[in-house]
Amino acid sequence: MDIGAYVAPTLRNVAFTAPYMHDGRFKTLDDVIDFYSSKVVWSPSISPLMHHVASRGVQLTPSQKSDLKNFILTLTDSSFVQSAAFARPAKFPDEK
Ligand code: HEM
Repeated sequence: MDIGAYVAPTLRNVAFTAPYMHDGRFKTLDDVIDFYSSKVVWSPSISPLMHHVASRGVQLTPSQKSDLKNFILTLTDSSFVQSAAFARPAKFPDEK
């Protein structure tokens, strides 16, 4: 069993973090959406939650892809990313 081997990452602020997936194989969110739509491939370790693998993905129409991308972009929070409260400190506590 591969329970815990992969963790589904948060999509919060994902617009800022291309390239995507653990190996950066997808350059854009459109590439990721195309993958889930029609390029999913079965493997012995695929998640049982990937219900549409038999049809290579969820087969989204162009308009559904666009809606999905626009939804993902609503998870973008520039004010959080630029907040001084969460910036790298001038010095980390263990730094000399
Ligand atoms: C259309 C539906 C989905 C969308 C739009 C979506 C979107 C994404 C995006 C944008 C990433 C890249 C995150 C990053 O690199 O920071 C990602 C990764 C991932 N997603 Fe999804 N996802 C969907 C469905 C699913 C499902 C059904 C599962 C589990 C059964 C899943 C599990 C994962 C995992 C484990 C990763 C990390 C993969 C890796 O690092 O190689 N996703 N997803």
